[in-house]
Amino acid sequence: MSALLVALHCIGMPLRTIRVRLTLWYVALLTIILVVFSAFLVLNLSRNLHAELDRSLVGEAQRSMATLDVQDGQPSLNEETEAPGTGVAITIYDRGGTIPMAGLRHPPFVLPATLLAEAAQGHQLFATAQGTDGAKWRVLAMPAVDNGQIIGVLVVARTEQEVTTALDQLVLLIAVAIPLTLLLAVVGGIFLAGRALNPIARITRTAEHLGAEDLSYRLSFAHADDEVGRLAATFDRMLDRLDRAFQRQRTFTADASHELRTPLALLISQADLALERSRTAAEYRRALSSIRDDAQAMHRLLSDLLTLARADAHQEELDCEPLDLRDLANEVVTALDPLARSRQLTLKFDSTDSVVVRGDQTRLAQLLVNLVDNGLKYTPAGGIVSIAVRRQGDYAHVEVTDTGVGIPPEHLPHLFERFYRVDKARSRATGGTGLGLAISRWIAETHGGTISVASEPGRSSTFTVTLPVLTASDAYQSADTAESTVRRARGTNGTG
Ligand SMILES: Nc1ncnc2c1ncn2[C@@H]1O[C@H](COP(=O)(O)OP(=O)(O)OP(=O)(O)O)[C@@H](O)[C@H]1O
Ligand SMILES: [Mg+2]
Repeated sequence: MSALLVALHCIGMPLRTIRVRLTLWYVALLTIILVVFSAFLVLNLSRNLHAELDRSLVGEAQRSMATLDVQDGQPSLNEETEAPGTGVAITIYDRGGTIPMAGLRHPPFVLPATLLAEAAQGHQLFATAQGTDGAKWRVLAMPAVDNGQIIGVLVVARTEQEVTTALDQLVLLIAVAIPLTLLLAVVGGIFLAGRALNPIARITRTAEHLGAEDLSYRLSFAHADDEVGRLAATFDRMLDRLDRAFQRQRTFTADASHELRTPLALLISQADLALERSRTAAEYRRALSSIRDDAQAMHRLLSDLLTLARADAHQEELDCEPLDLRDLANEVVTALDPLARSRQLTLKFDSTDSVVVRGDQTRLAQLLVNLVDNGLKYTPAGGIVSIAVRRQGDYAHVEVTDTGVGIPPEHLPHLFERFYRVDKARSRATGGTGLGLAISRWIAETHGGTISVASEPGRSSTFTVTLPVLTASDAYQSADTAESTVRRARGTNGTG
């Protein structure tokens, strides 16, 4: 393996790449598999060949035994029927297993005495012996029996030369084939790993060229069904999101600057006009009051912008507690009723049940004020703006309905976007900046709720806020938290 590392290093392949590591793992695994498989093959073949050799010895012995000549209780081999091939030796010993009596070919080695002695006892035995010719011999010794009497010991031997040659050839073949296969595996592995990892290199190149200025480039990977394809698709989707976020940010900054420039220009021109020449006290008062109105509008815009910026940065903290939406809506109606009257509008409140939610009183009041304020702004004199609080299952619904100008359907999907106004000129005249609904949506969503709109142009609009109601277990938990907070507070100031 280290030789492989050196070789890869020499051809300029960085060793720490996944491509090389993958190939090394693959080659290491393949080496283990090949070695184990080859060992199994050699052992199995050796076992089979030896078994075959033993079977042939038994066959040879049986043949010799069948044609054995017995004269006066003395066995001798039948030379006509027995013609052993090369590498085969057949000998017959006397009954004590010590004196070779006759042999068609004597084995070229000294037989172990114990083997003959045991065969003379009536046992059939196999043994392996080293011949004087340097070859290994397999020996079978068995008793020669006539009329139930052991009359001698028959020894059949066969050289293992053929078996050894066959095994040597197999080992040689394996010794050549394994390194060749591994070499092919290295080349193939590097090529295949390179092919599989190519798209990743493409993703890396793309990521390197991307900047905040241009997020328009996409990988658009064709084979989106495999792992790399899914990674590329995820990367593209992430780019989409980033692109949209950057786009929104840019538009937001441009819109904010634009919105601030108009009242600022007005403010400066009013101050210039007042300073042009000396004026009466009443004129100065009028100019200052107008400047104050513009400054107030700018102050409102800036605090709305700050709220949204802090919301984006998750810095806006909510001070949540159980509160009754019916009471809150009632307070908002009471506070805005004078404004409604001044515009000759009727502000109605319709609610029977008390609906308790967990929320930030100031923020939820701001949400309701925004919706009612819109209703009052965009409803002509004589119209009605009503607010209703209902509970449906685990959700509280607050509906703010007006009999106003309505909203054309094509504007509905964008209504909650920052600075979005249906009629820019009309909204500016009413002092609107188009941030009210964006803030309202953030408030609803940050309370785990939603906000939606339905409208009939020229007739009415209905904004619906849905919030999760406070269930008994939620209430228990929050009471528990409150109690432990009190306990902690007491503990720290030493009054506990
Ligand atoms: N009840 C309504 N009837 C008709 N149009 C509405 C109504 N509420 C909102 N709109 C339209 O949606 C736009 C966005 O409303 P939003 O409250 O966000 O902004 P705004 O009222 O113009 O300004 P801001 O609330 O920041 O003072 C408005 O400019 C208006 O065109
Ligand atoms: Mg508004």
